[in-house]
Amino acid sequence: MQEKQLQELLGSLSLTEKIGQLVQVPGEVLNAEGQELGVREDLGLSEEIIRNAGSTLNVVGAKRIKEVQKAYLERSRHKIPLLFMADIIYGFRTVFPIPLALGCTFEPELLERLCEVTSQESVAAGAHVTFSPMVDLVRDARWGRCLESTGEDPYMNSLYAKAMVEGFQKGMSDGAKEPKGMASCIKHFAAYGAPEGGRDYNTVDMSERRLRQEYLPSYKAGVDAGCEMIMTSFNTVDGIPSTGNKWLMDDVLRKEWGFDGVVITDYAAIAELVIHGAAEDQKEAARLAMEAGVDIDMCTGCYANYLEELIQEGRIDEKQLDKAVMRILKLKNKLGLFEDPYRGADEAKEAGLFLSKENRRLAKEAAVKSMVLLENREETLPLAAGAKIALIGPYADNQDALGFWAIHGTKSAVVTLKTALEEAVGAENVMSAPGCETILEKDYHDLPAMQKQYGMEGWSDEKRQAEMEKAVELAAQADVAVLALGEAVLQGGEGGSRTSLTSRRSAYASEKVQKAAKVVVVLFGGRPLVLDEVSKLSDALLEVWFPGTEGGHAIADVLLGKESPCGRLSMSMPRCVGQMPLYYNHFNTGRPYDGITPNRFFSRYTDCENTPLYPYGYGLSYHKAEYGPVTLSSHIMKKGETITVQADITNTGSRAGIETVQLYLRDVAGSVVRPVKELKGVQKVALDAGETKRVKFTITEEMLRFYGKNMEYCSEPGKFQVMIAPDSSCDMQAEFVLE
Ligand code: BGC
Ligand code: BGC
Repeated sequence: MQEKQLQELLGSLSLTEKIGQLVQVPGEVLNAEGQELGVREDLGLSEEIIRNAGSTLNVVGAKRIKEVQKAYLERSRHKIPLLFMADIIYGFRTVFPIPLALGCTFEPELLERLCEVTSQESVAAGAHVTFSPMVDLVRDARWGRCLESTGEDPYMNSLYAKAMVEGFQKGMSDGAKEPKGMASCIKHFAAYGAPEGGRDYNTVDMSERRLRQEYLPSYKAGVDAGCEMIMTSFNTVDGIPSTGNKWLMDDVLRKEWGFDGVVITDYAAIAELVIHGAAEDQKEAARLAMEAGVDIDMCTGCYANYLEELIQEGRIDEKQLDKAVMRILKLKNKLGLFEDPYRGADEAKEAGLFLSKENRRLAKEAAVKSMVLLENREETLPLAAGAKIALIGPYADNQDALGFWAIHGTKSAVVTLKTALEEAVGAENVMSAPGCETILEKDYHDLPAMQKQYGMEGWSDEKRQAEMEKAVELAAQADVAVLALGEAVLQGGEGGSRTSLTSRRSAYASEKVQKAAKVVVVLFGGRPLVLDEVSKLSDALLEVWFPGTEGGHAIADVLLGKESPCGRLSMSMPRCVGQMPLYYNHFNTGRPYDGITPNRFFSRYTDCENTPLYPYGYGLSYHKAEYGPVTLSSHIMKKGETITVQADITNTGSRAGIETVQLYLRDVAGSVVRPVKELKGVQKVALDAGETKRVKFTITEEMLRFYGKNMEYCSEPGKFQVMIAPDSSCDMQAEFVLE
């Protein structure tokens, strides 16, 4: 449709029909032959509003979508197609590793490809919009939603945000016969990843400088990449919940950044303005959200029930409503829904694409690249050919490898580690037992209720003892015990905050099976855990996160040396929960601790080191890289010029591998204090055994910019330090001066 036709369409709509476009109803309302009254009544939505609702969420599947769309259009006067949105976060039916794991690949192009493939599966299933990527910066592993983020670094998060948006939306508005791509929704705007105490939905409060410097860049990168939608966050920002925060949604997002797409709330967030204490009632909440520039009300009756009154009372200008409706119509038009309301939904295509060989291959590649080898004492890995393996642990033969947020994924398609190892080395070489459960009641308050809800089985004390005895016996007979352990899916994700990050079960199990000649821990989970104990008890420690559909094959290939691990940590791994928030790009303080001098008057803990157990950017491989000295093309950088920094990297090991070479910079002094280091460049370099490669980075003036004293984003002349290193823990190696 042309813009003029859209305007005409808008002009032909009644007030109720316009408001309807702004209302998103939960899938349950529309699923069963059109309607299910329960949900509708809960939300206080009228039959008329439901008939006119502009969008729905988490209704997927070609057949279902076609039925729902058809029934909707038949009942609709204006015949504007319904928009189908869904949480398709890290894969649709084929599930990739969780985003925190993907962050460990340091390969934005790979994430772009994964999102493109996810789009293909989702488009065939009729989805139009995905609530992804989540680009919230994370520094606190207590927060369960770390798993949805690509990590703690603003630079990498921005690259990933761009890559994911471009991947999801590729070909979206080409108007081709075969629809491609879906609209991408950046979330949760803003700073949802910084709740106090790591407790989900909790207060977020920080200086505007920190917000702009560290937290906003990834959302901005998504906007610049052309994302069609942005989702408000549940939290407050400077005392005002995002969903009613005009400064954030209008001044920053629309005016400063020029975002002209659709703003949607997070689930029920307008109604929560009342609960926050930002509005006295839902009507006022609706007014605040509308004034802030929020277009779609996700699953509350606030807009549906109060916008009309607010407009009639003159408290909301109808023009404002028209603008919001227009943005939604434009998105529908971009997707080609007016020409084809069933866009892409195709059962035959679903069958060809879902879990296809190529998609599985990609899932395996992503899983291999996102694993991080944390320890490998005496080259325990790769396992020796012919080794007798005792595969023990709750994740040994468990399809729960998708993590908390893969709601459309096919769990039954997950390849377990047991299956994969048996395929690779023969069933006769693999003995397996679960040994223990992933989670106990003392680790999770509502466990009995959750077990009921998710159909999980709890063990009796007798079973616990018998299973552990069996595991210990198997370990004693084996050359190597591979322990597949970690946190339970339930412990992470939305609402999955924890105060203890110790994998109690893991330490217990690794201690029990010490009878094996060697112990390799394969650690599953959605966040950094406190691993000191587990690490001490293991000869090798491989962090595999929630690795997705092809996790089993990927882990087996890495354990057996068919693939070399190359993932690097996207989040610092703590020694202790009390270190939270923990991140590499911190300030120096006036009294930084050197970790050695016994003096209490430093910025330090008296019972724990300051440093992480494993730093950001860290990971081992089967090759060995040595970094030569860093040299600069000049020690003076004049305005408008660039300088080159380089180092020779040599693989001194006996195997080829991929080295993730990282460039960090430090601005030694500024009008405001600058972090001790900031990642500014990454190159993944393939090195044959014995090979040396010269790795070069160009330093530009743009890399040196920050929000200075007067909140201007610019560089300041002075001294800078630089390092090229395998991870963030290294020392600065060279200096230059910006004139
Ligand atoms: C989550 C969002 C999600 C939305 C819709 C909310 O609870 O915070 O990430 O997109 O639900 O399912
Ligand atoms: C303390 C101050 C104290 C000063 C002089 C500093 O280290 O922080 O509280 O007044 O020493 O003793």
